[in-house]
Amino acid sequence: MSTLLIHNIKSLVQVREQAPKMLKGEEMSILPCLDNAWLFIKDGNIESWGQEISDMPQADERINAEGGMVFPGWCDSHTHIVYAGSRESEFVDKIKGLSYEEIARRGGGILNSAKKLQQTSEDELYEQALKRCHEIISYGTTAVEIKSGYGLTLHDELKMLRVVKRLKENTPLEIKATFLGAHAIPQEYKENRKGYVDLIVKEMLPAVAKENLADFADVFCDRGFFTVEETDIILSAASKLGLRAKIHANELDYSGGIQVGVKHDALSVDHLEFTGEDEMRALLGSNTMPTLLPSTAFFLRLHYPPAREIINAGLPVALATDYNPGSSPSGRMSFVLSLACIHLRMTPEEAINAATINSAYAMNLSESHGSITKGKAGSVFITKPIPSIAFLPYSFGAQLVKTTIINGKVVF
Ligand code: NIG
Ligand code: FE
Repeated sequence: MSTLLIHNIKSLVQVREQAPKMLKGEEMSILPCLDNAWLFIKDGNIESWGQEISDMPQADERINAEGGMVFPGWCDSHTHIVYAGSRESEFVDKIKGLSYEEIARRGGGILNSAKKLQQTSEDELYEQALKRCHEIISYGTTAVEIKSGYGLTLHDELKMLRVVKRLKENTPLEIKATFLGAHAIPQEYKENRKGYVDLIVKEMLPAVAKENLADFADVFCDRGFFTVEETDIILSAASKLGLRAKIHANELDYSGGIQVGVKHDALSVDHLEFTGEDEMRALLGSNTMPTLLPSTAFFLRLHYPPAREIINAGLPVALATDYNPGSSPSGRMSFVLSLACIHLRMTPEEAINAATINSAYAMNLSESHGSITKGKAGSVFITKPIPSIAFLPYSFGAQLVKTTIINGKVVF
């Protein structure tokens, strides 16, 4: 038995006797906190908490939070952190006036990353991704979803997913893997889109399922990428293999991506810059988590998704970083929260709920992550001393995480 006590906590954030699976509409503005608290973790799981110093249990290890706050670790439900190299030259092209779609049409963008990844060995790819895993742990992330999608051949998609599997085995992070063969149409299939969709359905998906390399399946359903019809075919095939959908939708247009995601009972639909009445109607009554990625809208200068309208319609919202080399080269969840507050007009409480309980739901981790609840993973971060919850998104870009603990072990 191993036990850990964190004491002298200014505020224990997101503490719930019973954790809801998701928070919708007005529920998102309630964030339960316990002031002057301690937290007791036993054998890697949350065991108890309290306020009175005299009630504090004995523990093998004690950490003095020194007046910092304790949060459940961030759940980053949408990333692409297995990639090769970087794409800052496209960043400069964008400064000079090219759009994301223009760069993609010239064979840059995702195809540029695919070329780099195809030329990189599995071991090298693993080393690069491992660094990003340690980086996000230092930002307070304790659970992350990682997509393939820069392979675009059977061999390279499997290579990517094997790297994700190694990360699952060798890092303390809780990791979910998503197969995203339908990220872009490779150059050699430009005149034969059906050929590529067939390759995904007939070869890639069965191989991924056979090796048990993915938890979910994704499609970039948007203007210039995959159509609703193609998405439909791919998600049907994925579902037959037991892979639930989590898709890229409505980033570049009213693409129909949200509706086709809901039709397939997707766990989440992500991006949603183009969300109107029809899209919100489709989401209402579904089990699909609308997931917003404001650092992508920031980096690509897109207009921001209408978070307020979505929440005011009574829907839930989750937040994630989309950490990738082309549209969001940052995995800092606290910056995503700042953008959510500043540009999406979410309150700090709504943003924190979106980045914990709701993003845990968006990767099927509601049972174990997203809140301080008995029996959930002892995966939390301790902040430097901060005056209030709102100080976290307010201090945009700052590193306020002092310690990260995963399953009861200090990992940063
Ligand atoms: O989520 N939108 C599609 N895919 C990524 C971008 C990938 C890239 O540009 O490399 C995204 O933004
Ligand atoms: Fe993405």
